[in-house]
Amino acid sequence: MTYTVLLLSQHPQWSDKLRAEDVNVIGDGLPSVQDVSQLEVTRGAVEEGLRLYPPVSILFREPSEPVEFDGRLVQPDAIVTLPQFRFHRDERFCSTPERFDPARWREDTAADRPEHAYFPFGGGPRHCIGMRFARLELHLALAILVHRFEFERLSDAEPDLEPGMTLRPADSVKVRVRRP
Ligand code: HEM
Repeated sequence: MTYTVLLLSQHPQWSDKLRAEDVNVIGDGLPSVQDVSQLEVTRGAVEEGLRLYPPVSILFREPSEPVEFDGRLVQPDAIVTLPQFRFHRDERFCSTPERFDPARWREDTAADRPEHAYFPFGGGPRHCIGMRFARLELHLALAILVHRFEFERLSDAEPDLEPGMTLRPADSVKVRVRRP
């Protein structure tokens, strides 16, 4: 959510689009779970936040038996790293990957991406058990925030990133919060 707010403060035109969608779908109240399917631009902004700044930025796996992968034999004692941060910004899987573009998540355009080129919640049988809950929470919280507040960026600098258990900004991300 921190990074999504930062991205919106850097791209006020998208902030305006989200707000227009929220006003249109929610009106003056709070969003309901039923509203979520209609908040498509908001969903795109959530996915862009998770794509550009995946909270889990790298995963590790150990094969249980020798496995050939891309012409290489990987032995069971090898540690295989799966860096979401790199995959999500790879031009082979995403055009203009450095650009914040919630429109790339529209149903009609998102379908072409290979299944595991985007995996903020991991993949396979051990993928995040809280994925749907987390997405719903992010979607609703962002709709509420954008509906009520505008975020103005206070610095042009990109935040330094500190990859630990989760991908954290090294310093506080500061934005000015205003009523729209
Ligand atoms: C933005 C929020 C979240 C992100 C980015 C996230 C990401 C992840 C990732 C990448 C994994 C590892 C998947 C793998 O190894 O392939 C994972 C596992 C897991 N997550 Fe999340 N998660 C989030 C929120 C949640 C929430 C809200 C819950 C619980 C309500 C949750 C519960 C779990 C559990 C229990 C596992 C272990 C699943 C297993 O090993 O079978 N997560 N999560």
